[in-house]
Amino acid sequence: MTTIDRYAVFGHPINHSKSPRIHRLFAEQTGQSLSYYAQEVAAEQFTAAVSAFFAEGGKGLNCTVPLKELAWAYAGKKTERAGLSKAVNTLALQADGSILGDNTDGCGLVTDLTVNHGIRLTGTRILILGAGGASRGIIAPILEQSPHSLVIANRTIDKAVNLASEFRDKGVVTACGFAALNKQQFDLILNATSASLSDSVPPLPEHLIAENGICYDLAYGNQATPFVRWGLEHNAAKSLDGLGMLVEQAAEAFFIWRGVRPDTQEVIELLNAERNP
Ligand code: ATR
Repeated sequence: MTTIDRYAVFGHPINHSKSPRIHRLFAEQTGQSLSYYAQEVAAEQFTAAVSAFFAEGGKGLNCTVPLKELAWAYAGKKTERAGLSKAVNTLALQADGSILGDNTDGCGLVTDLTVNHGIRLTGTRILILGAGGASRGIIAPILEQSPHSLVIANRTIDKAVNLASEFRDKGVVTACGFAALNKQQFDLILNATSASLSDSVPPLPEHLIAENGICYDLAYGNQATPFVRWGLEHNAAKSLDGLGMLVEQAAEAFFIWRGVRPDTQEVIELLNAERNP
């Protein structure tokens, strides 16, 4: 009897996750035979749930909020980008039985920006809002694109300063609080705060977006997020949310597991058509 390879996403909450839909679309499109489901797993249950999943023959897992740091600690081996981001969103069973941890969020973001939206990062002034886990995961992949400069701004300034210092040897990266952004301008502003969860936007100065500048919210929703709305209200050339990043990070995980790259365009188009902007 042949069994279908089993994959899943663990998180808390997980009921609104689009990952099962995305991976099933990828599997259908590439002719891969697999199952993918979402499982509600709280932080306290994480180690037992992951161990049970792999002991029962599971091949790969995605881990989302609030489990990415726990997945990082769990993984026996880690890719370099996962090591730097101190967070893992993809666990993959290896041929030798070990579990490899990777983080595909940063490369998903860069692919969405550069390939899907044709945004050049090289030589540009980039601002990241927030200094939590979501920021940490995207800093190295952004610096690899050789921006002119990268500023990390955060409500708690010390967290931004510490984060910037960790990546000092990878590019021009500095840190500040939101008030110090006054009189500065950026070509790309990335919102990696969780302010959207409280339906708010960090306190930002009026003229922060450079001419032809772009806003991008790592979060996404059926309606425009507060930060996407802020970008539109402040004349951003484009104000985008993170749906494309979500699909691209999933495609990279799918590639790690299956060795096949799905066509992300048709999946992004489908998911975009399904929501009400
Ligand atoms: P994540 O893993 O999603 O990044 P996190 O580690 O809790 O979550 O980080 C959340 C980030 O959003 C932090 O940078 C936080 O700022 P503080 O470090 O000062 O707490 C930021 N954040 C959350 N709510 C915010 C708000 N209403 N305004 C501005 N920043 C906010």
